[in-house]
Amino acid sequence: MKIMVIVAHPNLNDSEKNQALLSELRKQPDTHIRDLYQEYSNWSINVEREHQLLIEHDRIVFQFPFYWYSCPPLLKKWFDDVLTFGWAFGPEGENLKGKEFMIATTTGGSENEYRAGGRNWFTISEYIRPIQSTIARCNGTFLPAFVCYNSSADALKDEAKRYAEFVRNSQTTLAQ
Ligand SMILES: Cc1cc2nc3c(=O)[nH]c(=O)nc-3n(C[C@H](O)[C@H](O)[C@H](O)COP(=O)(O)O)c2cc1C
Repeated sequence: MKIMVIVAHPNLNDSEKNQALLSELRKQPDTHIRDLYQEYSNWSINVEREHQLLIEHDRIVFQFPFYWYSCPPLLKKWFDDVLTFGWAFGPEGENLKGKEFMIATTTGGSENEYRAGGRNWFTISEYIRPIQSTIARCNGTFLPAFVCYNSSADALKDEAKRYAEFVRNSQTTLAQ
């Protein structure tokens, strides 16, 4: 299975958590990791190239720090530009059918805070519904998300291992 990890961090070089998560993933075979903000520092997304890369991969992971209960803006632009009518959805827009998509995000808040009655009110699954719906509209399979809640530098090593395993072996539980 060919995996593409699209990392959308406005400043990956200064990142602690997202960098830590990538450390184990970089050792995995058949895993193409990309830094979206570095590739498109001018914010001009090459749609044809993105389409080609999507066709070449089976599982696509969107990795990003959770910003204002959502994703950083360049990733939103990527969705807007790349998932085009007639290619990703609509008549003959079946290029993403059968592909798997996953979100991997890091938070400042703790898991305890992301629940009804908690400091952040809702779960991450609830916050990422717009992306889940986008993938569903494009006939992709939306896998459960990987969430790295606020964790210490020590815990991050284990999180990186958990992440590498999750990205490779996660499976949909739909219709099982
Ligand atoms: C603009 C901005 C918005 C943020 N919004 C949230 C948020 O809504 N929820 C949250 O848990 N953390 C939020 N954070 C904290 C980041 O998610 C956290 O710093 C990041 O996941 C750490 O990863 P990094 O070390 O790779 O940068 C925000 C941080 C910034 C800079």
